[in-house]
Amino acid sequence: MAAVTYEPIKTCKQTGARLGRVHTPHGTIETPAFMPVGTQATVKTMSPEELKAMDAHIILSNTYHLFLRPGHELVKKAGGLHKFMNWDRPILTDSGGFQVFSLSNMRKITEEGVQFRSHLNGDKLFISPEKAMEIQNALGSDIMMAFDECPPYPATYEYVKDSLERTTRWAERCLQSHARPQDQGLFAIVQGGMYADLRKQSAEQLTSMDFPGYAIGGLSVGEPKHLMYEMLECTTPLLPTSKPRYLMGVGSPDALIEGAIRGVDMFDCVLPTRIARNGTVMTSQGRLIIRNAKHADDLGPLDPECSCYTCTNYSRAYIRHLIKADETFGIRLTTYHNLHFLLELMRGVRQAIREDRLGDFRDEFFTKYGLHDN
Ligand code: GUN
Ligand code: ZN
Repeated sequence: MAAVTYEPIKTCKQTGARLGRVHTPHGTIETPAFMPVGTQATVKTMSPEELKAMDAHIILSNTYHLFLRPGHELVKKAGGLHKFMNWDRPILTDSGGFQVFSLSNMRKITEEGVQFRSHLNGDKLFISPEKAMEIQNALGSDIMMAFDECPPYPATYEYVKDSLERTTRWAERCLQSHARPQDQGLFAIVQGGMYADLRKQSAEQLTSMDFPGYAIGGLSVGEPKHLMYEMLECTTPLLPTSKPRYLMGVGSPDALIEGAIRGVDMFDCVLPTRIARNGTVMTSQGRLIIRNAKHADDLGPLDPECSCYTCTNYSRAYIRHLIKADETFGIRLTTYHNLHFLLELMRGVRQAIREDRLGDFRDEFFTKYGLHDN
């Protein structure tokens, strides 16, 4: 039995979106699902108990960061990432293929792997597909990602083609060197930039190998949203319906709904936690910037339609005061609310699929929320 399997439940008659479950060694994920990001083995400012209270089924962490600090050997010695961070539900680790390009200095890419300098201390380091597997095997995540290259946007056709072909060869090497296929599922990552035929080439090459799940990478890299949706539309139909699909780095409410409609099952993004730390919250009426003077004496909740811990107990005026005074509790409250908001949105998406009305759900959501750039 594979470590990670997909159980389809139904598709929405109105949109074709999929309702399902992803089974992993640490439990089941109801999909479509949003995964909060815990880059450094913590979802910034949230305890595991708080994440459970908002009913997060799975979190994401990063190979690149944990390799640099504190080192995967230490995490392994601690009994794996679940034990190290006291989280007993599923964990997905990204491979480092993206962070190496977005964070490190002086990277040099060869067929063998990527040489780079640590963004922390300048140390010269190397990650190959085999190394990315070794690190993720040591971390013990339920879902591991293949080591890939995410090309910048824009990039030429020739660059993207070379890059995706290398990503396919790297995916094969990841599969070959995966030491624990019986308890960790390895997902491949479809690349291909904004070129429909390259997306097709990547999807066909990767699906000819037997991965338990497929991610769509290289999107949400600065392209207009309509292009991202076009790329999704030419990719998801090529992926096996019997396996989960994961759209990497996407977490704005509109893209979560539009992604689900195009057949995506899993999403992750730093957006809710990142904007929370500068005092921006997502509400049923759209985004709200808590520092604005108009909230100074507002004793109502962040979102009158929200039932989260923050909205049940604290006012806009209080949270604004905490954030302006640089009190840590303020960003804990906004982080809690934003994560709860997206997890609740996904519960709504799943219920709408169950009832064959995700199209109506989308229209109702946007009438109130409005459209944002991200
Ligand atoms: N996170 C967001 N996009 C990507 C991608 O293309 N590859 C990887 N590994 N992680 C991502
Ligand atoms: Zn709330």
